[in-house]
Amino acid sequence: MAKEIRTIGVMTSGGDAPGMNAAIRAVARACAYYNVKCIGFYRGYQGMIEGDYCVMNARSVRNIISQGGTILKSARSEDFRTPEGRKKAATHLTEAGVDAMVLIGGDGTFRGGQIFSQEYEIPVIGVPGTIDNDIAGTNFTIGYDTALNTVIDAIDKIRDTASSHNRLFFIEVMGRDAGFIALNSGVGAGAEEILIPEEDLGLDRLLESLKRSKRSGKSSSIVVVSEGDKIGKNVYQLADYVTENLPDYDVRVTVLGHMQRGGSPSCFDRTLASRLCVKAVELLLDGEKNVMVGLINNKVATTSFDDGLSGTHEINKELLRISDILST
Ligand code: F6P
Repeated sequence: MAKEIRTIGVMTSGGDAPGMNAAIRAVARACAYYNVKCIGFYRGYQGMIEGDYCVMNARSVRNIISQGGTILKSARSEDFRTPEGRKKAATHLTEAGVDAMVLIGGDGTFRGGQIFSQEYEIPVIGVPGTIDNDIAGTNFTIGYDTALNTVIDAIDKIRDTASSHNRLFFIEVMGRDAGFIALNSGVGAGAEEILIPEEDLGLDRLLESLKRSKRSGKSSSIVVVSEGDKIGKNVYQLADYVTENLPDYDVRVTVLGHMQRGGSPSCFDRTLASRLCVKAVELLLDGEKNVMVGLINNKVATTSFDDGLSGTHEINKELLRISDILST
């Protein structure tokens, strides 16, 4: 018979994402609702290794639903990659009386959860929190919607100045391995071209497309580039290449960077975080373990870590076609 769950731990790990606080709040409040003790670990796996934690109750998470960042802080722990680090973490969890953990983060966090759950009898549930949206087992990750809105807002502003000066802007957005942010913000902001890691369209095509834009009477252009794009070595080299080959263009580069990870979460991200984390607590109380929760076709669903980590979350390439048509 599964061990009774009396204490649940929660942590946030990897790159932070707007909505992580809403997720922490949902775990703490669901624990309070079900009369389970809740313990928050600081700096993800590192806090578990160091025994750095606090007891949380319903009031500890007041007014954080609207805040960006994570009150529990986040980190990428190198120590947790080692068996010794994981052993220390397991020892601290046992000492703190933690029976199960909710792990909020991206694929690195889930990989840590997968190996930890194979080594120790401590049930864990993963909740997808990353702006990159690059996790299989969910249509949306917590933070992605807010990041998209942040990017759209920034591109709209850049569009104003691009248009005033008849300039071409290359705008780099986050997405080390995935083009979700670039593709969707690019369509949403009416970019002339979108460059993503999943599709190498080639430099010739980019030049052709920019020439076509000029011929069609456009005075300014926006090219959204995902940071993981393979077409150029980086966005600055891409801009140099276009300047050399299309001297008529006055080219500028903007790298949006970490501003994409901050800010008050959108309603969508707050609701998503709330739904997924209440479910995570309920699953643990029902004896479920070693799975991630996600939103699939607007229903909260579970996927094993194995399937989640071996699967890929495909981008919607149809959006590239839509973008092509609409940037005519
Ligand atoms: O949060 C995901 C992500 O934003 C990636 O798109 C990006 O490459 C990475 O994090 C950068 O994070 P950091 O600067 O924290 O290492």
